Amino acid sequence: MPNNYKQLIENNKSWAQKKKEYSPGYFENLKLRQEPNFLYIGCSDSRMPLDTFTQTEPGELFVHRNIANQVSITDINFLSVLDYAVNVLRVKHIIVCGHYGCGGVNAAYHGFARGLVGNWISPIRDIARKYKEELDAIQDEEQRLNRLSELNVLKQVGNLYKTHVIQQAAAEGKLDFQIHAWMLDLSNGLIMELAFEKTQQKAPLKSN
Ligand code: CO
Repeated sequence: MPNNYKQLIENNKSWAQKKKEYSPGYFENLKLRQEPNFLYIGCSDSRMPLDTFTQTEPGELFVHRNIANQVSITDINFLSVLDYAVNVLRVKHIIVCGHYGCGGVNAAYHGFARGLVGNWISPIRDIARKYKEELDAIQDEEQRLNRLSELNVLKQVGNLYKTHVIQQAAAEGKLDFQIHAWMLDLSNGLIMELAFEKTQQKAPLKSN
């Protein structure tokens, strides 16, 4: 694992060289425009670069990441990304992707995190309270936290529908993108799709 930043610069040079060799014109095309079909909302965790897991290239994923993949309807950073993705880039898919073994979810469940991080992940504590009965019934702690990570993703998908951007798109009949809830299993590198009530995507939501 590199711990010298110069190693990263060296890696970059050799990557760029290989790209140029294998695909002449690659960077000329890359700099022209971005037309990604996907918005990826994921955890900041260093193990969660979705482009690696999905073999997507620069230009294919528009990305917003934060600790424990929160869809915060008061986060101007996130809302700007969502607005741009939906209304300018016109992405075809919005993916909220959590992961098992999420440190943010773990810290929220156990009340470990303090200060700003504690504040940021406090909505997950509300989820844990809401689903206390279901979670308490799971004996194995790892599995319990995994379930909480899934509930977290589903809650964030629910939050997406509460945003002005999505409500506006629904009110104008422009919900021409799909929303997906994913979990990434770091123990095998595989993506699992979570089911949720898709009909709410088609239901006319009230515009503010
Ligand atoms: Co995480």
